[in-house]
Formats: sequence, C-alpha cells, structure tokens
Amino acid sequence: MSELRFDERVALVTGAGGGLGRAHALLLASRGAAVMVNDLGSPTMGGQDHDATPAENVVAEIRALGGIASSNSDSVATRDGAESMVSATIEEFGGLDIVINNAGIIRNRTFLNIGEYEFEPVLDVHVKGCFYVTRPAYEHMKSVGYGRIINTSSGSGLFGSFGQSAYSAAKAAIYGFTRTLAIEGARYGIHVNAIAPGALTRMTGDVLGDDGEIADMTGLTGEDLLMQLGPQQVAPAVVYLAHETCALNGETLSASGGRVARAFMGVTKGIYEEDLTLESVAERIEAICDETNYVVPDNVDKEMQLLLEHFETEK
Ligand code: NAI
Repeated sequence: MSELRFDERVALVTGAGGGLGRAHALLLASRGAAVMVNDLGSPTMGGQDHDATPAENVVAEIRALGGIASSNSDSVATRDGAESMVSATIEEFGGLDIVINNAGIIRNRTFLNIGEYEFEPVLDVHVKGCFYVTRPAYEHMKSVGYGRIINTSSGSGLFGSFGQSAYSAAKAAIYGFTRTLAIEGARYGIHVNAIAPGALTRMTGDVLGDDGEIADMTGLTGEDLLMQLGPQQVAPAVVYLAHETCALNGETLSASGGRVARAFMGVTKGIYEEDLTLESVAERIEAICDETNYVVPDNVDKEMQLLLEHFETEK
C-alpha cells in the first residue's frame, strides 16, 4: 500500500503538548499535515495553571523534523478559548480539515467522595470542550464540504471503571456525541469517529507504568514498557480515522499497545410480549439478556425496527 499522506491538510489537535495528543500531532506532521498544537499546559487533574511551553516544545520538535506546526495554549473548556483556537488555525494555515479532540483531565474518586467542584471540571474539559471546539470547526467544514473529527472517548466510559464515575460519564457522553454528529455530518462530507485509547502517559503512569499489572505480567519496565505501551502505539489508529480514504463514520476504535479493535453498542434480540407484565420480565430475564444473535443498530430508528420485526413475526 502506498504511504497515507496528509499534504495540504490542516489539523487541530487539542491537548497535544504531551502524551497521546503529541503522538497524534507528530504522526500527522510527519505525513505532511500542517498542525495546530493546542495545549493549556494543565496538570493531570486540571486547574487554573496555564503554561504555553508544552505546546511550544512539540511545535519545535515537529519543525526540527521538517514539519509544519504552530502552537496555541487556549483552553478547550471555554467557548472563547475554543473559538479562538479554531479561528487561529484557519488564519494561520488557511483552512481546517481535521480536528482531534484529545485534551483531557482526570480525577479518580469513588462516587460519594466526589464533590461537585471536583466532577464539574472533568465534564467541562471533556464534554463541553468537545462541543466548544467542534462547533466552529464543524461550521467551517460544512462550508467546504469536507472534514474529519476524531473524539477521544475511553474504555472507562464504554465499559465502566472503578472510581471514575465523573470521567466515565464524560467519556460516554463523547461516545453519544460522536454517534449523532456522524449521522448529521455525513451529508456535508464530515466523518466523525472516536478513539478509546490506552497508553502509558502521565495520566496512566500509576496503572500502566513500572508498578502496574502489565509490567508485572511482561517483565517490561522503563523505556521497554514505553515502546510497547506508549502513545505511538495508538496514534496510527487515530490518524487513520483522520485520512480522506477512511470511510468509517460514527465508529469507535479501541487502541492500545498495538492492538486495534472496534468497540460498539449492541442490543440483544430480547423478548416480545403483547401484554408485558412485571412477572414475565422476571421469568424471562435470561432470554432478555442472552447475547446470542445480538444486533448493532446504526441509529435509534434501526433499533425501533427490531420492535416492528417482532410485530411482523407475531402476525
Ligand atoms: P495527558 O495528561 O498526557 O494529556 C492531556 C493533555 O491535555 C495535557 O497535555 C493537558 O495539558 C491538556 N489539557 C488539559 N486540559 C486542557 C484544556 N482545558 N485545554 C487544552 N488542553 C488541555 O494524558 P493522555 O493520556 O495523553 O490523555 C489524552 C486523552 O486520552 C485524554 O482525553 C484522556 O482522557 C484520554 N484517554 C487516555 C487514556 C490513556 O490510557 N492514556 C485512556 C483513555 C482515555
């Protein structure tokens, strides 16, 4: 296969001053894209700190390798910040073809230990951040009839994870946002997909680092662990979703350590009863949950069709 290139394409990658975003930005730039490297320079738990250095360092890295990049340190979590980074990208590079919504923070607490002041910033950065950045970018993409948007969800949001109710809620919201925007954007040539990544970064050092389970199982530590589990093992899946030849729309790829898979939402065949009762639900709960021949609906109307099929069968 010939090399997948991004010449003449312009990408905005949020939270690209380190970790996964940096890897996405480096790969895009190495394939010819002009990249706006956004990063607020915030601590892992979020906060008021503001530091332009991480984004500037990644830009210096890209330029040193002969790539095209510029930096921005606005916050995705405010409308002004998001609008300003999108217009700065369009002004600097003359367009915007790709947005990778990657910026994120995390605050691990079991449910009763989360105060509202702790979960709100998590929702602000992930959920509002996705809406705020995507809105002006989508408007531009609609006007030119082309766009690729990749949102960062998480296995934590798709499948659940102890101590992460706020983060999971935010990441599941991003999944729903991706599904619906994909349906709406298709008519404008805009594809919207998501990534559920897993990588050793500062955010995951405690679970995926030298003291984590994978290090225990594999015996890998330090640089070797980073080679196996680093962000560069996720970026190809994300950057593929950004390519013009990628026909996927509304999908979520799960990627970590070199493994890439499709994550999806399905429903079981379930049961149908003309006069449903509490007892019939109780009696048939196993059949309701039986995963044999489960279905993956494209959209909510397709799920409704499953009911229509039951009506047809009963006739
Ligand atoms: P990271 O902490 O290295 O990178 C996140 C970046 O986002 C930081 O550089 C930070 O300064 C920036 N940021 C935070 N708030 C911002 C704001 N308001 N505006 C602009 N930039 C902001 O973490 P990592 O692991 O690279 O995470 C990247 C994304 O992937 C996040 O959305 C995270 O939730 C998600 N993710 C990561 C996983 C992993 O295994 N590392 C697993 C699942 C999801």
